[in-house]
Amino acid sequence: MKHILLLTISLMLACKPGYSQSDFSPAPIEIVPAPVLLKQDKGTITLTPQTRIYAANDEAKHIASLLNQTLQQRYGFSLLFANSPAQAGLQLFIEPGKTPHEGYNLQVNHQHIRITAGDGAGLFYGSQTLLQLLPTERQKILKIPAVEIVDSPRFHYRGMHLDCGRHFFPVSFIKTYLDWMAYFKLNTFHWHLTEDQGWRIQIPQYPKLTEVGAYRKQTVIGHNSGIFDGQRYGGYYTDEEIKEIVQYAAARYITVIPEIEMPGHAQAALASYPWLGCKGFGPTYEVWTQWGVSPNVFCAGNDSTFMFLENVLTRVMQLFPSHYIHIGGDECPKDHWKQCPLCQKRMKELGLKNEEQLQSYFIQRIEKFLNAHGRDIIGWDEILEGGLAPHATVMSWRGEQGGIAAAHQHHDVIMTPGEWLYFDHGQGNPAYEPLNIGGYLPLWKVYGYNPVPASLSPDEQRYIIGMQANLWTEYIPNSREAEYMAFPRMMALAEAAWTPLEQKNYTDFLTRLPNQLCWLDRAGVHFRIPEPIGLQDSTLQNDSITIDLKPILPGTKIYYTLDGSNPTPTSELFQRPFTIYLPPGKSLTVRCIEVSPSGNISVPYSAIYQHTTAQQKTEKPLFQAKSLAEATDALTP
Ligand code: ACM
Ligand code: ZN
Repeated sequence: MKHILLLTISLMLACKPGYSQSDFSPAPIEIVPAPVLLKQDKGTITLTPQTRIYAANDEAKHIASLLNQTLQQRYGFSLLFANSPAQAGLQLFIEPGKTPHEGYNLQVNHQHIRITAGDGAGLFYGSQTLLQLLPTERQKILKIPAVEIVDSPRFHYRGMHLDCGRHFFPVSFIKTYLDWMAYFKLNTFHWHLTEDQGWRIQIPQYPKLTEVGAYRKQTVIGHNSGIFDGQRYGGYYTDEEIKEIVQYAAARYITVIPEIEMPGHAQAALASYPWLGCKGFGPTYEVWTQWGVSPNVFCAGNDSTFMFLENVLTRVMQLFPSHYIHIGGDECPKDHWKQCPLCQKRMKELGLKNEEQLQSYFIQRIEKFLNAHGRDIIGWDEILEGGLAPHATVMSWRGEQGGIAAAHQHHDVIMTPGEWLYFDHGQGNPAYEPLNIGGYLPLWKVYGYNPVPASLSPDEQRYIIGMQANLWTEYIPNSREAEYMAFPRMMALAEAAWTPLEQKNYTDFLTRLPNQLCWLDRAGVHFRIPEPIGLQDSTLQNDSITIDLKPILPGTKIYYTLDGSNPTPTSELFQRPFTIYLPPGKSLTVRCIEVSPSGNISVPYSAIYQHTTAQQKTEKPLFQAKSLAEATDALTP
């Protein structure tokens, strides 16, 4: 009876979402990052072109418009606004104090789809969760499982970095990057804008920074092979483009933190204005054409250097409203300072014992300047050496030690240790991966990272404000390769940064990946297609094994070979499990590639199965998948 009454009401209010209790096909809920509390109820709700949307204030309206944009892109319709919540199937409310900062409550029930949040960021994240509940087929009647979600982040600093110095990435790509960051509830874009190999931010007062510093005459091939490509390379972001990016990010609740590197990684600046370097070096510098750490750093003894940097930072502060300005501080060779009369004079005057203290002086002087303008600095963990600037936040990249030391000193810390969060590291067998800097950082390892070291006391742990993954681009020449390195690792980062530690579960995360990969694939993102499930998992029975492969993203085709040859899209298509006779002493190599529905092709994956008899140990035949030695691509450790 109640059911009929409800049905009648929903028919009367055509703009209300449709509710069907009988239609209990519990659509899998695949939200990344996993929310804090999720209660799935019986039934589904429908969102259709007739559903109205109510936004309680201007900020909610802005979020509704973004939601509409995505609906339009995905399903070809958007929702009309209603004047009151009673007329609206989808309701967006901002009620200060209602949730923790960036948190939201989402109710999908027979009465309404309602998102309530204490602030705009929370409402926005609620809207991203709603988008993740929608079907992956392009259709006009969108079924949404009835749910109640209560959610808020573990950390308030959830960052992704992009190095635009080594390679230059167009505004369009940065917007795509920001879109996906927002979709996975990351809230900070660390924009690495100056490097030895290129200065990327236009500063009108110093035009040569971009006329000269933004271009290198060529680029070394491979890992500093000594062979160069002979191609002039470069680019920079104009004032207008920077404002556009900052605004685009802010609309999606992402803060852009610019990084202006000092005192090291300065060769492109020195190529533009050689007087920025130490006396006795130069006067000709060129924008660097190879990778590594250049000895050409800003002179710490020359007041003109500081005047230059303060002028640059003044412009940076005009363009970037972020509370933090990242001033680099990493990898500053001190060789020039040791020989420079001005640097040595400065050390003598200030009674500095070594060049580490001179670096500390440098950073503290810049910190004072930025603090005086109401900003705070972030620096890489080298800023600990020679004494930490009083208000600095430390970005710990050479492991966690820097972060731990900073937390001991009651400084805020952002964890971004290379071993877990450097997305320039490889993701599989180097023989098949695109050229990269090395290392091995698979998805599971990113996922498993916890930025709060157990060695810190609970009091000190509070100084860990969050985590960030870094995408350095020496070996990432274009957007396509950047996407390959960023996805799906960005999702693992997002969950590690958002979801409560005790709720993290990698196996469960994998079940929620398909939904995300589907949207990436639809958008034409060149993500790294994970290895098919089951490739490493065959077991021996009666001298034979059964090969059963399943792609993570449904609709992905798997092509395989069994003779050790390279699989291609013309190899055998995997259609159903098959069994192969494998007598003792024989081995079988299964190699495959995957092709996603949009045509994205994976690297080859392989597993070697060997049927060995190890009579010295046991009477039984031993059976081993030697896949890790071969491919090291497994989804699990
Ligand atoms: C860094 O990777 N040099 C911060
Ligand atoms: Zn000097």
